[in-house]
Amino acid sequence: MFRTMNPALSAAACLLLIIPAIAFSADPAAGRKLAGQCKTCHGLNGIARIPIAPNLAGESQIYIQNQLKAFRSGKRQHEMMTVVARDLTDKQIADVAAWYESIKITATLPE
Ligand code: HEC
Repeated sequence: MFRTMNPALSAAACLLLIIPAIAFSADPAAGRKLAGQCKTCHGLNGIARIPIAPNLAGESQIYIQNQLKAFRSGKRQHEMMTVVARDLTDKQIADVAAWYESIKITATLPE
């Protein structure tokens, strides 16, 4: 089936796959602004300020993004995060995930 596919069509299909990736290239600076909505619980620096919230500093963009989309779709549920994620766009999710990923952290093992 693929062998008989029109080459122009397959090129167009490839472009369709590439374009959204470019359109959603994440902007950590915009994400920093959006993180103003997260800081009460996760901190602007990604270090949690309430015990039931996780640290997000240095967490991978992919992981943060996947969790926010799961909260948004209802696949993952939490009384606070379901409300927070409900109205976020894909671009906002990519940006805020890029912000938290960009924070440099170090880990020190206990003695
Ligand atoms: C009112 C407090 C509160 C606010 C505001 C809030 N969060 Fe959360 N967030 C939580 C809590 C609590 C959890 C833990 C959920 C659970 O136990 O399943 C969480 C979980 C998460 C997770 C999953 C992390 C993991 O390790 O699985 C991500 C990602 C996240 N929040 C991102 C955000 C972002 C981005 C914002 C701002 C747009 C935000 N949160 C705003 C309280 C908050």
